[in-house]
Amino acid sequence: MKVAVLGYGVVGVGVYEMLGRAEGLEQGPVLVRPGKADAPFKVTSIEEIVSDPTVGAVAEVMGGVEPAFTYAAAALQAGKHFVTSNKALVAARGIELKALAEEHGAAFLFSAACGGGVPFLHNLSLARESDRIRSLGGILNGTTNYMLDAMQRLDMDYAQALADAQRLGYAEADPTADVSGLDALRKIMLACAVAYDRLPTEGLLNEGIENMTAADAAHMKSRGYTCRLLARGGLNGDGSVYAFVEPVLFREGVPECSVLENYNMAKYEGACSGSIVLMGQGAGRWPTASAVLRDLNSVLLGHRAMLRPACCRVAADNGALEQLYYVRLPARFAERFAAESAEPDGDTVRLVTKPLSPAAMHELAGEIRAQGGELFFAAIGG
Ligand code: HSE
Repeated sequence: MKVAVLGYGVVGVGVYEMLGRAEGLEQGPVLVRPGKADAPFKVTSIEEIVSDPTVGAVAEVMGGVEPAFTYAAAALQAGKHFVTSNKALVAARGIELKALAEEHGAAFLFSAACGGGVPFLHNLSLARESDRIRSLGGILNGTTNYMLDAMQRLDMDYAQALADAQRLGYAEADPTADVSGLDALRKIMLACAVAYDRLPTEGLLNEGIENMTAADAAHMKSRGYTCRLLARGGLNGDGSVYAFVEPVLFREGVPECSVLENYNMAKYEGACSGSIVLMGQGAGRWPTASAVLRDLNSVLLGHRAMLRPACCRVAADNGALEQLYYVRLPARFAERFAAESAEPDGDTVRLVTKPLSPAAMHELAGEIRAQGGELFFAAIGG
């Protein structure tokens, strides 16, 4: 099967090279931005790809919703199989792409969009056929894991850790999506869509790591905690879906603490299987390219869809779960929280809340920030 590649950045170069040594797959044209075509295999128009009868599949690794959606739709309408690493695209337009793929008898797979090299969505799409997935998620962003690890274990400052993650090819073109938790949120949206046939698009919460200071990192370390950015999804008791991202503190010795550098740890809890954990590199050229190639091989094996026909958009309900939170904030706002304990430090206070839902915690944080209060919070995990 000849594969056209859309995008020739960090991942695109990896996909193209891997195609050159893959059995059953063949290098096709590569779409690059106008003005960038400097080799016979590079083209600047999607038309050249969709009208080429020798192209059987299109692998999109350019990122962003547009023009990726227009190109994906054109490829599927031409009956080409479509695989992508683009979580922004699938989170925003995955339902439409699923319908187009069904209509035109083409495959639509996006295992590379969540977990980098970790085969999380691939396994989830198999597990959901035989088991009931109670909850899912984990460490799903390589950039922030790299940064948190560097800040806590190596005492690196935030700016240097981010610059390193960018240099190593882990971060998005605009790293705001990584550090704000939006990238991980998109990934948990996709995982819920695969596991529950429901893509949560409203009521979502994401708190990233931008508000964590070196003093926060040192304080948590001194208390024996390691901070990780966790994406969590699952089913509430009433059957609604929850989906949110936030920093979580873990006691040393908990498996999440041993997830270092750009690694991801993806988990799901099956009613029959129990807890399943997958760990590997969540970002970077070769891990992500390997996931794209895995999807292309799945197409060769006859796998056509990760989203089932019934999959639709829903609102998330993040008000049911309750947990304790660590919060660092200006002392004048401390009374907004019912606290288990509070540790004053000049004008600042570090407190542990009584049980709160993510919806309540994120809302309070938004209110305090709107009034000029700088605050960092993290759920207290295992
Ligand atoms: N920026 C993403 C990450 C790339 O750091 O996880 C892989 O999805």
